[in-house]
Amino acid sequence: MAVLITGGAGFIGTHTCVELLNAGEEIVVFDNFANSKMSAVENVKKITGKDFPFYEADMLDRDAMEKIFSENKIDEVIHFAGLKAVGESVEKPMEYYHNNITGTLILTETMRKYGCKKIVFSSSATVYGSPKSLPIMEDFPLSTTNPYGSTKLMIEQILRDIYVSDKEWSIALLRYFNPTGAHESGLIGEDPNGIPNNLMPRLIKVATGQMEAMTVYGNDYPTKDGTGVRDYIHVVDLAQGHLAAINWVRNHTECDAFNLGTGTGYSVLDLIHSLEAVSGKKMAITYTPRRAGDIAACYADPTKAKTILGWEAKLGVEKMCEDAWNYAIKHQ
Ligand code: WQD
Repeated sequence: MAVLITGGAGFIGTHTCVELLNAGEEIVVFDNFANSKMSAVENVKKITGKDFPFYEADMLDRDAMEKIFSENKIDEVIHFAGLKAVGESVEKPMEYYHNNITGTLILTETMRKYGCKKIVFSSSATVYGSPKSLPIMEDFPLSTTNPYGSTKLMIEQILRDIYVSDKEWSIALLRYFNPTGAHESGLIGEDPNGIPNNLMPRLIKVATGQMEAMTVYGNDYPTKDGTGVRDYIHVVDLAQGHLAAINWVRNHTECDAFNLGTGTGYSVLDLIHSLEAVSGKKMAITYTPRRAGDIAACYADPTKAKTILGWEAKLGVEKMCEDAWNYAIKHQ
């Protein structure tokens, strides 16, 4: 009677493992370490004091998926595994479609074979493209501007079609806004392989002196200070949203989408000032033209997750910066 966490060694995966274990859930985890490390899995065990089966495996390996499902009684799946760098996806679309789409099909085919029909999918606010207004609601039009986002939208459609074909399935599509922060222990956090794309890991590299200055992509947006506005959500809040979604799929046979955001937008400069206050480090800033594909502002209407999943984010930007900084100084 376990929950399978695909890509469970990653940033959101490890934090979700911690929340599930702390809630008394049995879990099984696999990861191919494309953007994660075994040490993160060991730290999940250290934080919770609990052990669980872990497989180094790739969702494209049908035999490996067969092995996991034949050796464990899997009742639900939380599906994180996938390539997720927007810029890289533009350069390598075939790799992104093959890995994310084919991998998901192999996973769901294996689930069906073993009678496992409950899945929580790691989707993204990127499926909203450039929203017509704010805050964003789940019934807004969906469109994408890069292959990474398109894989998320396509997988949402695949899962909806699976539900239409067999109403015994229960599917939660979780649309993350901008996950950031780290577990307060400082043992797990955002630790991408290679050069990070996202704002917080790059801010941390400047605050720790690994990068000279913070590059701010555009300060001419129609926002309060001209820099991009996003709905940053603490990764622990996000992880608890998955626990709420697992409970929902257990008690329903439906397919539905939920925004996991705070409902509040913060600018790039807000994050810079908050991390400066927390770290005591003053950051040099270089303003450049806007980054291709970026939108001015994006933040959620999180009402649906609150009313249907009984979940809402509780942690603010200062806590996100405190925990991200704590993780960074423990992992320099
Ligand atoms: C945030 C803001 C940048 C870096 C992406 C994906 C999304 C999800 C989260 C996976 C923007 C600005 C950033 C820097 C900057 N990923 N910025 N200098 O683009 O909102 O969302 O990551 O699910 O799907 O699209 O996040 O952190 O890259 O950017 O000024 O060095 O920070 O312009 O305004 P984004 P981000």
